[in-house]
Amino acid sequence: MLNDVQQKALQDLIGKCSREELLWINGYLNGLVQGTAPATAAVTDAQAPRVNKITIVYGTETGNSKKLATDFALKAKQHKIHAKVLGMDQYRLTDLTKEEYLLAVISTHGEGEPPAAARKFYDHIHLNGFRLDNLKYSVLALGDTSYPLYCKTGEDVDQQLQKLGGNRIVPLQKCDVDYDADAASWFSQVLQQLTEPVPAVVAAAPAVKPAAPAKKGKQVYQGTVLAHINLNDQGSNKETYHIELQADGIEYQCGDSIGIVPENDSQLVTDIIARVNADGNKSVLYKNEKVTVYELLKRKVNIVHLTEKQVQQYATLTGHTVPVKRADLLSLLQQYPVKNATQFEELLVGLNALAPRLYTIASAPAAHLGEVHILVVKDQFEADGKMKTGLCSDYLSQYKAGKQLSFFLQPNRRFRLPSEEKDIIMVGPGTGIAAFRSFLAERDATGASGRNWLFFGEQRFTTDFLYQTELQQWFETGVLNKISLAFSRDQQEKIYVQHRMREEAATLFQWLQQGAYFFVCGKKDPMSHEVEHALLEIIQEQGKMTAESAKQYLEQLEAQGRYEKDVY
Ligand SMILES: Cc1cc2nc3c(=O)[nH]c(=O)nc-3n(C[C@H](O)[C@H](O)[C@H](O)COP(=O)(O)OP(=O)(O)OC[C@H]3O[C@@H](n4cnc5c(N)ncnc54)[C@H](O)[C@@H]3O)c2cc1C
Ligand SMILES: Cc1cc2nc3c(=O)[nH]c(=O)nc-3n(C[C@H](O)[C@H](O)[C@H](O)COP(=O)(O)O)c2cc1C
Repeated sequence: MLNDVQQKALQDLIGKCSREELLWINGYLNGLVQGTAPATAAVTDAQAPRVNKITIVYGTETGNSKKLATDFALKAKQHKIHAKVLGMDQYRLTDLTKEEYLLAVISTHGEGEPPAAARKFYDHIHLNGFRLDNLKYSVLALGDTSYPLYCKTGEDVDQQLQKLGGNRIVPLQKCDVDYDADAASWFSQVLQQLTEPVPAVVAAAPAVKPAAPAKKGKQVYQGTVLAHINLNDQGSNKETYHIELQADGIEYQCGDSIGIVPENDSQLVTDIIARVNADGNKSVLYKNEKVTVYELLKRKVNIVHLTEKQVQQYATLTGHTVPVKRADLLSLLQQYPVKNATQFEELLVGLNALAPRLYTIASAPAAHLGEVHILVVKDQFEADGKMKTGLCSDYLSQYKAGKQLSFFLQPNRRFRLPSEEKDIIMVGPGTGIAAFRSFLAERDATGASGRNWLFFGEQRFTTDFLYQTELQQWFETGVLNKISLAFSRDQQEKIYVQHRMREEAATLFQWLQQGAYFFVCGKKDPMSHEVEHALLEIIQEQGKMTAESAKQYLEQLEAQGRYEKDVY
């Protein structure tokens, strides 16, 4: 089947690999062929697996880890292994010491932090002194290489389970956003361990990470800003910017986002340099790159709202007693001065890299050729008695038409328009409208026949009706079949999208029963939770169900890809 050259190449590769690397390759190849051919780790019907019961726990923020954990459980079942799947928030922590086989699928969020629902599990294993000597485990870590602390939570969980005495059966597998092949490879290795006649325990993670197939890396696009418009009118409490970028050659789908790495405020950088009397033009080495102190502070490192861990590092390095709470670099330097320029440079190179921020694409490939549009609300909040702004949204709010902006594409494979004849219900208050402007523009340009119903909300009709003209035109031309608006501050009592959903309960349930897809985009907290709560009530009441059956109905929608969220 292989020619001589191919055979030699394969033998050369195999000859250089350690056992772990061979295991990885085996798993990787299994993963590749899964779906078209049975995994080599498969147990034939006649064989009994060596292990017949496992627990899979997942820690997720946006659903990827849950989806993978559920898929793994199904695959395990095909191999006659009973897999209990639980979110880390539902998992009884006291059961951990009783587990024999535990698989953990966990993503990293925030700045290298666990998903909120996994926090208790994470803290439990880190804080509580107990032993897990009987535990056999493996961790699949989901992450994104564009973040400075790639798969940090998965790494922590893997190491901590080992510290507590757990035996790692398969090395930690880190996965980037295109996680399918790596995840399938990891699970194949796990299956092999569970089904092999002789147990093979991997005592420690391999010293050298097995060479993963070369990743393409994130392609960075240079977009020219074509338009930069504040969509809020005078008198609004908000500033929401519609930004159009020209970016030839970009291929995206509705539902995707773009990632942007912000720059720090120039005045703040100058103030920091002045505060410590540093030479801004001096070169330093940061992550193997030579940059000037000014460039480092302006474009590379995070200098505002440092994490607690970074504040702790600051304290250790400077020898000061500093309260462990998030703080800005400048205020730390003012209150707890560094000794000299050398100490300042040491401090700088230990700072976290600036993290990208994601923005849901508001344009559509069929409608806005070669362009990407986003909608960014300036994040304004009070801290330490002062009004402050979020770093990236403030940076983008000051952008000017004609300037270049670097960005990368962040696909969202779950949040997709269904086939053109399907009905969709879209709930997108505030910047959540971005995804649905994209959906509607695509459906308009392609003449899709499915019905479209939008719930939109903001503070006031006169100042905050984002994309009003376009939405009205789509309504007039029949692209938008129904629009339900909730302007919270136009009357005494607050009215939000979830209230409009309840008012339309009968029709909404009818649409769902007829096969409609339900999408939510925008603020996770509290919006998406309130919307879900209302949806459950509507299903229960209109479907004359118990609360439990309504929950199952919604889970069914989710499993069918008919209840999707892009929330943040
Ligand atoms: C998938 C996805 C899609 C998204 N789509 C959109 C979109 O379409 N439109 C949109 O506008 N946003 C969107 N976001 C949110 C966006 O990525 C950013 O999180 C948002 O713009 C805020 O980023 P920032 O840099 O302005 O704020 P940051 O500087 O990151 O601040 C965020 C928060 O941290 C706290 N904080 C920051 N600095 C301080 C300080 N000095 N003191 C005290 N507290 C502080 C505040 O609570 C602040 O609100 C999306 C997010 C995700 C994950
Ligand atoms: C706001 C935000 C912050 C993130 N921070 C990190 C991070 O610090 N490190 C990392 O490796 N991945 C990070 N990610 C990427 C997620 O881990 C990745 O998208 C993962 O597939 C999500 O899995 P989940 O859906 O199970 O939560 C972040 C994603 C978002 C949206």
